[in-house]
Amino acid sequence: MKAETYGLRGKGVSLISIVLICTTIIIWSWEKTPSLNVSIPSRATMQLPSENISIVSHKEAKTEAKRNEKDKTSKREHRPDFVNDSPQRSSLISEKEDNNWNNATDNKVCNYAKGKWVPDNHRSFYSGFGCKRWLSKMWACRLTQRTDFAYEKLRWQPKDCQMEEFEKSKFLRRMQHKTLALIGDSLSRQQFQSLMCMLTSGKKTHDVEDVGKKYGLARGKGALRPNGWAYHFLSTNTTILFYWSATLCDVEPIDASNPGSDQAMHLDRPPVFLRQYLHKFDVLVLNTGHHWNRVKFKANRWVMRVGGMPNTDKKLGTMGSAKNLTIHSIVSWVNSQLPKHPGLKVFFRSISPRHFVGGEWNTGGSCDNTTPMSVGKEILWEESTDQVAAHAVKGTGIKLLDITALSHLRDEGHISRFSISAKPGVHDCLHWCLPGIPDTWNEILFAQI
Ligand SMILES: *[C@@H]1O[C@H](CO)[C@@H](O)[C@H](O)[C@H]1NC(C)=O
Ligand SMILES: *[C@@H]1O[C@H](CO)[C@@H](O)[C@H](O)[C@H]1NC(C)=O
Ligand SMILES: *[C@@H]1O[C@H](CO)[C@@H](O)[C@H](O)[C@H]1NC(C)=O
Ligand SMILES: *[C@@H]1O[C@H](CO)[C@@H](O)[C@H](O)[C@H]1NC(C)=O
Repeated sequence: MKAETYGLRGKGVSLISIVLICTTIIIWSWEKTPSLNVSIPSRATMQLPSENISIVSHKEAKTEAKRNEKDKTSKREHRPDFVNDSPQRSSLISEKEDNNWNNATDNKVCNYAKGKWVPDNHRSFYSGFGCKRWLSKMWACRLTQRTDFAYEKLRWQPKDCQMEEFEKSKFLRRMQHKTLALIGDSLSRQQFQSLMCMLTSGKKTHDVEDVGKKYGLARGKGALRPNGWAYHFLSTNTTILFYWSATLCDVEPIDASNPGSDQAMHLDRPPVFLRQYLHKFDVLVLNTGHHWNRVKFKANRWVMRVGGMPNTDKKLGTMGSAKNLTIHSIVSWVNSQLPKHPGLKVFFRSISPRHFVGGEWNTGGSCDNTTPMSVGKEILWEESTDQVAAHAVKGTGIKLLDITALSHLRDEGHISRFSISAKPGVHDCLHWCLPGIPDTWNEILFAQI
């Protein structure tokens, strides 16, 4: 029911405007209840606010360090994994607009990043109460105290093309005898969990076996979780895997005999796992973004290396430049490998936006909005708001899985203040509730494989 009202908003606007002009009482109540504001978001409100690079405290660094060393308590599973990212500024966004909405004649050059969110009450790939085998409890908002679920009932509709509807049987058939690998950070893990739930409808099945061992995926000593997961669908001989590589760099201890050793982070060298298994992949989805900050570097004892040598270039030493170099390096390396793997489809997923308001995760930041599309509902510009990723893939055989701007419109879809323990704590305005926004990322991915 709630969703239907969104559709009526447009009509409501003119009516309400008339009433507004007539009565000061209504003006008063309007101001008192900003949530009733039904005005169509102006172009300005839909643009991405610039997010300041936050200053992170020592406290976070310490917690993080502890967590990365020996993590014995599973409680930490509930501690959000916050980070800084700097989505590119809206000033770079193209002002070009056209009005042929739903023009399905031009499917070949479909820009799936352009479109709008539409209410869809029938939307249900899996239940947030189910999919226990894959869905982390901390991301299953249905299991928390949260009571609003309107965010589950929105579908992304690309502007100039029809997006093929996600069907698990179609997906698996298309991926018969094939392997899809997601490599990246915790947002990538969310996409992986979402995909596993979508492909099984979140139901128990004997069709899926754990093949993590085949890829050397295991839980390291003292680690909270394995460095990845791999699952094989027996019926179609399809493998879906996730590998944890938060920075898409090759990381190795400088002194292997010392457990507390600094870690050499080779900005220009892809992770060993990728080099080792690339030939096994048919679809590869890469991402990085939320670990490029001093806190993460300090906590993980990462020390930058370029060309195998300690980095001496001050400019490169900044987080933005290091991230940019790494993204360009990995894209260019994978691109160089494409001729050897003619069937391989590679995507670089653009950055997933954060929505902290009034502070950072550790300084009282929150994301309490529960009304879908308050930020806006359409993306009409052509270019990606993740300029670094967009620039890196330009002219290569790697496609951008551009989810930044469309996800930016969904500030109500984060975990927010809810947790499985129902204890008040830090707010998670980085990760998304599942089912939720990452399901859409998978729909867009499906449409392109
Ligand atoms: C970002 O920084 C500018 C100037 O440093 C400041 O005026 C603004 O309030 C900050 N915005 C946020 C969202 O913190
Ligand atoms: C669809 O787009 C094509 C070219 O982009 C244009 O020629 C055609 O008129 C459009 N159709 C509609 C219904 O807008
Ligand atoms: C399953 O797929 C792999 C390629 O991913 C192929 O090598 C293998 O032969 C397939 N197995 C069967 C039983 O078809
Ligand atoms: C990122 O790196 C590429 C390739 O080295 C360079 O052309 C580009 O200007 C860099 N962009 C930024 C924002 O540093």
